[in-house]
Amino acid sequence: MEMALPIFDAAYWQGRYAAGRDGWDAHTATPPLRAYFDQLDVARQPRILIPGAGRAYEAEYLHQSGFQQVMVADIAPEALAALATRVPDFPAKNLLLADFFALPNDPPYDLIVEQTFFCALSPLLRPAYAQQCAALLRPGGTLMGVLFDTDFGPVQEPPFGGSKEEYREYFAPYFDFRHFETATNSLKPRQGRELFICLKKK
Ligand SMILES: C[S@@+](CC[C@H](N)C(=O)[O-])C[C@H]1O[C@@H](n2cnc3c(N)ncnc32)[C@H](O)[C@@H]1O
Repeated sequence: MEMALPIFDAAYWQGRYAAGRDGWDAHTATPPLRAYFDQLDVARQPRILIPGAGRAYEAEYLHQSGFQQVMVADIAPEALAALATRVPDFPAKNLLLADFFALPNDPPYDLIVEQTFFCALSPLLRPAYAQQCAALLRPGGTLMGVLFDTDFGPVQEPPFGGSKEEYREYFAPYFDFRHFETATNSLKPRQGRELFICLKKK
């Protein structure tokens, strides 16, 4: 019989931050995301969402690069507070203390950035994650980032692993696949274990 997973709510995540159980934290914008951001046209000022952003080094990087419409969403106050402290001129109105699944899509986003948020959710929520990403993006909008292509074993709490084949099924109903391959520029501990994805909403 399969055991039900506990609920990974705001209290759970706040507790992990408080206890320093934050092994996902790269303390920097990671190379795959940075390389993607560097080829974006800042003049277009895309509307960008980073859900489950944690301490949000990517938001800091984009902000310092001149992107002004970067929204950061997280259910843990600690995560948003860390960005606000590090980057005092990051617009407070762009810090969303909110559940990703309840975010409104008006106006829709041009770009959603994924990194260790998908693996932080109960695997039961994966189809809903793909659906909500699609709902939040404009047609032709992009979901990009990295997904673990790794089996973490029968764990009872995040991170939850998975495979390219599994993930493809969640995203295929809503997205065209531009890139869905092992990342070539991952941080050392993640090398060969994560996919770089770039999906366009149909
Ligand atoms: C594993 S951490 C990853 C943080 C960040 N993406 C990074 O790479 O450092 C997962 C984050 O997702 C947040 N989170 C979990 N469920 C969420 C939800 N339903 N809506 C918004 N944020 C959520 C947690 O509070 C936590 O900060």
